[in-house]
Parts: sequence; structure tokens; C-alpha cells
Amino acid sequence: MKFLCVQNLTIRFGGVTALNNVSLEVNEGEVLSVIGPNGAGKTTLFNCISRLYNPDRGKITFQGQDILKLKAHEISRLGIARTFQNIELFTNMTVIENILLGRHIFRRSGLLSQAIFYGKAWREEIGHRRKAEEVIDFLELQVHRNKRIGRLPYGVQKLVELGRALALEPRVLLMDEVSSGMSLEETQDLMIWIKDIQEDLGVTIILVEHNMRLVMGVSDRIAVLDYGKNIAEGQPEEIQSNQEVINAYLGESNAVVRS
Ligand SMILES: Nc1ncnc2c1ncn2[C@@H]1O[C@H](COP(=O)(O)OP(=O)(O)OP(=O)(O)O)[C@@H](O)[C@H]1O
Ligand SMILES: [Mg+2]
Repeated sequence: MKFLCVQNLTIRFGGVTALNNVSLEVNEGEVLSVIGPNGAGKTTLFNCISRLYNPDRGKITFQGQDILKLKAHEISRLGIARTFQNIELFTNMTVIENILLGRHIFRRSGLLSQAIFYGKAWREEIGHRRKAEEVIDFLELQVHRNKRIGRLPYGVQKLVELGRALALEPRVLLMDEVSSGMSLEETQDLMIWIKDIQEDLGVTIILVEHNMRLVMGVSDRIAVLDYGKNIAEGQPEEIQSNQEVINAYLGESNAVVRS
């Protein structure tokens, strides 16, 4: 059984066919990058997997289960988490508060039970906080822990987005342009964390990125979309030398980028 499988996905917005019969298979434990020019349909693909969009046609299965039958909150319970291309954090809240919010799907005790079974709710809360602190340590966000999101540089906000998704303890992580707005140094750290998330945490990653050095450095496989269609799929070296991909997206200069 395939781990995550997208079959013949089509979605239209008025006259625009954002995805046109797109198929993709993701193996458990791999980093699969999805690349392509602006408007190729990459974010739309993530929006379909995370159930924000309803495709017109096609099928998406996770471990054999048809996830198009599920609602967005049920997708996160299955262990599929994502970051957003346009940051979706609470800007008036602190880093730790935003990361704790990533744990909301695990919360069992409501306000009433918190009042009655105070001890149980308290233990649950401690567990959530411990997990959030682990994420803060993992992404080396300690110095920013109590700062409000709105006061942080964009690159750090992107990391907090990643932290909020990791707090979900996902099995699959969809990362949408996490490196955009990051400095060279932050991007180099991000490359290491992506490999750590894959290898140490055992998370399967689907990466949407325009930074080809990052893509070529961390990907096991790469799928290429152009105008909502699959145009290529393969190992980084194959993609870099694929003439159709070079013409549609990479250009001759990027084609020689090495990790
Ligand atoms: N909600 C929507 N309503 C109308 N059109 C949409 C909507 N979502 C996406 N589209 C259109 O679908 C196409 C694909 O957009 P998408 O955001 O998926 O591209 P992308 O590959 O993520 O591009 P980028 O690299 O710039 O982020 C674009 O033409 C876009 O305008
Ligand atoms: Mg996008």
C-alpha cells in the first residue's frame, strides 16, 4: 500500500485549471520536493491534501484511506500537518503560545472537565507544554520564546510556523516555501533541520520550495509541476538535467546548482 497517493487530481477556479490531472506518490520516510514556476499549482495541491479545497476530480489516499471524505481538522488528527506560504500565526501572541496552539487537536478536557477533574486536565496541560518546549529547543527558538510574533523578523516567523506544525507530532509534513524571507544562515540551518525532522523524528516531508540549493540538498525525489500538470519526476540529478524542466523552470544557470 502506498503511503500517500494523489491520483488524477483536477481543480478549476473559473477559467483557471489550477491542477490538471495531477498524480503523485509519496513513500514513507522520504523528502519529496514539488517544484515549478509561480502559479504551477503547488500550494493548491497542499490545499487539496489538507482539505481546504475540494478538487473537482481525483483521489487522495493516506495509507489506503480516502482522505477526500474527511474534514480539515480530521486531516490533522491523521497526522498530516502543514505550514502556510503566507504565515498564519497569531501576531499578538508569543512564540510559545502559538506553538502550544499546534497542540489543540490533542486537547481532551473542555472547560467543564477542567473545573471538575482539575488534576487530569493539569497533567494533560503539562504534557502539551513539555512537547511545545521540545519543539522550541529543537528549532533553537529559546531566545524568542516569549516574544510576540508581530515583533519578530520574517525568517523567524517562518520557523515558528514550522514549530507549530511540528507540535502536532505529524507523520507527514507539508512545507510551503518555509525558506522564503530567511537569511543564508537561517536557510542553512533549515536544511539541517529538514534532515533531522526526516531522520530523527521519522517524518515524511513534502517540500514546496523555490530555493534550488535547498531542494537539491535535501530531496530524495523531486516532482515538477507546470501550469497545473506533472511534467517530470525523479532523483535530483535527473531533474537538474531534464531539458523540459530546465526550459519551464530551472533555466540554464540553476541547472548546475549542486548541494
Ligand atoms: N482560491 C483560488 N481562487 C482562484 N484562483 C486560485 C485560487 N487558488 C489558486 N488559484 C489559482 O490557481 C493557480 C495555481 O496557484 P497556486 O497558488 O497553487 O500556485 P503555486 O504553484 O503555489 O505558485 P507560487 O510558486 O507563486 O506560490 C494560479 O493561477 C492561482 O491564481
Ligand atoms: Mg504557492
